[in-house]
Amino acid sequence: MGGEDAVYWKERGFTEVNEGRVRLLVPDPRLYMRPDGQPEPAWAPVFYNPVMRDNRSLTVASILAYRGWRVRAFADPLAGACPRALRVLLEAGVSSAYAADIDPLAVSVCRANKLLNGVGSELIVERNDANSFMYRLDYEGIPMDAVDLDPYGSPVYYVQAASRLLAKRGLLIMTATDLGPLEGKYPSVALRRYGAVVGKTTFSKEMAARVLVAGVARLLTPFDRSVKPLLTLYERHYLKLVLEVEHSKGAATSTAGQMGLLCVDEKGMPRGHLPLEELTRSPRKAGGEGECWRSIGPLWLGPLWDVGHVERVLEAAKREGGVPFSGKAVKKLELMAEEARVSTPYYYRMDLVHAIAGKGEMEPPQAVVERLRSMGYRASRTHFDTRGIRTDASLQELLEALS
Ligand SMILES: C[S@@+](CC[C@H](N)C(=O)[O-])C[C@H]1O[C@@H](n2cnc3c(N)ncnc32)[C@H](O)[C@@H]1O
Repeated sequence: MGGEDAVYWKERGFTEVNEGRVRLLVPDPRLYMRPDGQPEPAWAPVFYNPVMRDNRSLTVASILAYRGWRVRAFADPLAGACPRALRVLLEAGVSSAYAADIDPLAVSVCRANKLLNGVGSELIVERNDANSFMYRLDYEGIPMDAVDLDPYGSPVYYVQAASRLLAKRGLLIMTATDLGPLEGKYPSVALRRYGAVVGKTTFSKEMAARVLVAGVARLLTPFDRSVKPLLTLYERHYLKLVLEVEHSKGAATSTAGQMGLLCVDEKGMPRGHLPLEELTRSPRKAGGEGECWRSIGPLWLGPLWDVGHVERVLEAAKREGGVPFSGKAVKKLELMAEEARVSTPYYYRMDLVHAIAGKGEMEPPQAVVERLRSMGYRASRTHFDTRGIRTDASLQELLEALS
């Protein structure tokens, strides 16, 4: 059995962990500790980050929740130790999974994990570059219903190959950890990577998500692929998108129609938006109030969530024996289900709104949400920022609601 045997790996500094319904051989985290006492997965010979359990659970739950198409085939082109491919096989009812990693050691560990879970030909594992792997599967006519891109940094290098691989309609799931450029800290990187002009704003976490969706859409629409976000999650060190991608000229045209610019004032506070399509018509001021001191974008102005999808994910997370999530993740999903109902392309940071209003102490955001609702506005807190409120009230109306 050699390299596929658990004993072989344990003698080489690996340990066994449980995640969802799978058992995994992974590098023993105690061997890769940072000076602050926290494990550093990037130092281990094969990448496995226990902190990303909720991220992987979200892939499982999103496949279970997806109503567009039954997910039978799943691709995991940056697989590491294969936790995703194994979990979707054992927990999401997927019939076949295809995994690749460029690192030969990761591929060996993945094969050992396959054996450890009694998985046979349902999981094909190979050493390959992610793009070569996906283009080859496409060339061989093996369509996927879902692809999960989990790279180091940005997923944009892989999205075109992934979209080619998807059937007529499917799920493109991705994680991005390059939050610096996406949130506006490195504008020149954001411009070349995502084609967007970004800058400092008071809603940078949501701006990051909208720049990422737009960057993906810009790469897919030339190939008649549409992009529809079903779920968007911002976590401390990453953004996760679950997108439905469809091969259709009409749908791709409506995707392009959801791109636009956001206007911000000197403080980076949102002041309105302008769909790009408007630029092809008569010259117009951006929708919303006030002057556009600076434009951000192009970015995605459409919804970041599909309410039904988020509710089904939440239901899978709460169901007895359902997909395991941390309590913190369930709370975020609950918040998301609420904010998904208020479709504005930004949120207001209430500490800053209070400062503009000259109010010393910040009122709890939930109290402001309830007041706005009683005044007839749509309003919700946002999972992006504990101080944030998403509402269709303008900044002026929000200031009035405070007084
Ligand atoms: C963030 S880790 C993936 C972790 C894994 N998906 C998980 O959930 O534990 C990124 C993986 O991509 C692999 N990788 C990096 N560049 C690659 C490439 N061009 N093609 C395929 N795999 C690559 C790395 O070896 C690493 O295992």
